Amino acid sequence: MPVCDIRRLMEDAATNNRAVGAFSVGNMEMVLGAVKASLELKTPIILQIAEVRLKTSPLEYMAALMLAAAKKSSVPIAVHFDHGLDENTVYKALSLGFTSVMLDASLLPFEENIAITKRVVKKAREYGAFVEAELGVVGGSEGGSKAHKINCTDPLLAAEFCERTGIDALAVAIGNAHGNYPILPSLRFDILEALNKTCPVPLVLHGGTGMTDDMFRKAISLGIRKINIATASFDNLAKSAKAYTDSTKKADYFTLSAHMADGVYENVKKHIEIFNN
Ligand code: 13P
Repeated sequence: MPVCDIRRLMEDAATNNRAVGAFSVGNMEMVLGAVKASLELKTPIILQIAEVRLKTSPLEYMAALMLAAAKKSSVPIAVHFDHGLDENTVYKALSLGFTSVMLDASLLPFEENIAITKRVVKKAREYGAFVEAELGVVGGSEGGSKAHKINCTDPLLAAEFCERTGIDALAVAIGNAHGNYPILPSLRFDILEALNKTCPVPLVLHGGTGMTDDMFRKAISLGIRKINIATASFDNLAKSAKAYTDSTKKADYFTLSAHMADGVYENVKKHIEIFNN
């Protein structure tokens, strides 16, 4: 089947008061594990990779892998380029066939964020692609190399941002952060509620690793339609691989590969079940 249109997934999620899981991948085993969970639960997912991951997982390789998995799947799977930091990398992702992209200019001043996001929306439209952007600052950073301070999204500015940029989805900052939380976050559901009223587009929750089931459910009830999970999958892959190599005197690649995929499968399955609400 063709690569799934993420718009369809967002509409369906809104109708059924659920969220679509967007699962970060960095190699073939991660793709296999995530797709296995999606097929087993007959639930569409989004496969995504962020720009910071390209140092270890080159974009051309990952694009081919992710697009092949989406096309082969009998359950709809969308393919998203996450946290594009350089607009040229976003354009490269579009040219490689990603049907959804995120431009993250959240650290720039408001007007500069608008200007670059508008350019990316214009370019993405040439491909019929979906665009997510971020306003406010989600804590930490994808990949963990930087510790950005949380700055919650302003609901009125968010409405203006959506209107002036023409984006399709907005990543919100409501006390969420990337990576493992040192203590349970206290999410600003009051701000999310206001954002849900002011913003005309689906809302995206980053930093899903470590949130409780109740937090996910409450966020979904307040308009979150896409939830990003990265660290939990990377950690579960490493844990599962280590359990295998610790259990044997002579590890072989094929069994190791299966354990890596299994670690991701377990994590993705757990999250899909919660997000299906
Ligand atoms: P976590 O690594 O905290 O799950 O965040 C993932 C994310 O938001 C990717 O954009």
